[in-house]
Amino acid sequence: MDGFFTSLIQALGLIVTGDPALRGIVLLSLQVSGLALGITVVTGIPIGALLGLRRVIARGLITALLYTGMGLPPVVVGLAVYMLLSRSGPLGALHWLFTPSAMVFAQTIIAFPLVAGLTMTAVRSVDPDLRLQARALGATSFQPRIASPARPEHFVSESIYELRGLCQEYGGRTVLSLASLTVREGERLALVGPSGAGKSTLLRLLNFLEPPRRGVIRFRGQEIPSGSAPLELRRQVTTVFQRPVLLDADVVTNARYGLHLRGLSSEARVRALLERVGLGPLVHTLARRLSAGEMQRVALARALLVEPRVLLLDEPTANLDPYNVGLIEEIVREHCGQHGTTVILVTHNIFQAKRLAERTGLLLSGQLIELDATKAFFESPRDPRTAAFLRGEIVG
Ligand SMILES: Nc1ncnc2c1ncn2[C@@H]1O[C@H](COP(=O)(O)OP(=O)(O)OP(=O)(O)O)[C@@H](O)[C@H]1O
Ligand SMILES: [Mg+2]
Repeated sequence: MDGFFTSLIQALGLIVTGDPALRGIVLLSLQVSGLALGITVVTGIPIGALLGLRRVIARGLITALLYTGMGLPPVVVGLAVYMLLSRSGPLGALHWLFTPSAMVFAQTIIAFPLVAGLTMTAVRSVDPDLRLQARALGATSFQPRIASPARPEHFVSESIYELRGLCQEYGGRTVLSLASLTVREGERLALVGPSGAGKSTLLRLLNFLEPPRRGVIRFRGQEIPSGSAPLELRRQVTTVFQRPVLLDADVVTNARYGLHLRGLSSEARVRALLERVGLGPLVHTLARRLSAGEMQRVALARALLVEPRVLLLDEPTANLDPYNVGLIEEIVREHCGQHGTTVILVTHNIFQAKRLAERTGLLLSGQLIELDATKAFFESPRDPRTAAFLRGEIVG
């Protein structure tokens, strides 16, 4: 150990005093590395670009070799170079062994796969359509290949949900079976149907609160994995349930709960929305002292404050008095209209569907019987079961 420190101190001394021999070694190292880097850039970038752009023979093999080269330890490369350049090796005639040229050669072999491989990956990641469209705008054949396309944060889709073959079972009993349903971004859709038809079950699936037994849910073009949806997607959807469960705290604490879960705060917005839902004077009242209608308005404010892309409403006004029903409908219409929120409303109350929804569907025994523009749904239903349901007859 002593020897190590003595050598270290000697080396530092040589650096500090600007020893001419040491300066020579450093300069030589810089020359060797600079030359190797120059050779690698000049050869590696065009070769990597070519591999990324053109269908080259044995491209798969070359790619595999490049990726292998990226992970080679320098000591292995050193050994290979030694064998190549040794007097009896294939490049022995060059007489490069133990010369700076051998160092340049070795460093080039180490750096080349990195430069060529990274260039190839970068070029391949450019969207082919971008090349085509940039060329149509007059780009040279080189320009579109180095441009980077703007990637939309999310797949842009007119439909927010696409459901295919969606099925839910409990205890072996099928309670929901939808062949297909598309929900448009920004629309207000109502689903009506008798008790037990599967309406709340469908909303739980749409809020990604439970996975379907079978079938596919695509949300904004993205297929939801069969396990649980990523948090980032779940946070774009929220539900107001028929029976709101509030924290044993005051109104304002309850209203900001969704924001709090996201680590956000916006007191001004919380206060403004509570004013809007008519709870301004009650912000510090304990939730348990509120009437049912007031509790539901707290739940609605709590949901709207997180600015969901989709608002699911599960019988939001059942058992409420006409004043609260009217107020809640008005806020949903106004707020969601302003924010472009997609609303899916589940209700027994066909009049509420008529007042709020642009499209209405009938769910019976887990199946979507009919879905149409609200006016057509009510005025000229195509399925006799819809007509019977609208007349108030028992259907199932
Ligand atoms: N977690 C569960 N476990 C077992 N069965 C369930 C479960 N959730 C719902 N069900 C059953 O699935 C069927 C559909 O229930 P769901 O709550 O979706 O109906 P709904 O249309 O919302 O009815 P309502 O109008 O009365 O709220 C019912 O028969 C119900 O008993
Ligand atoms: Mg229900």
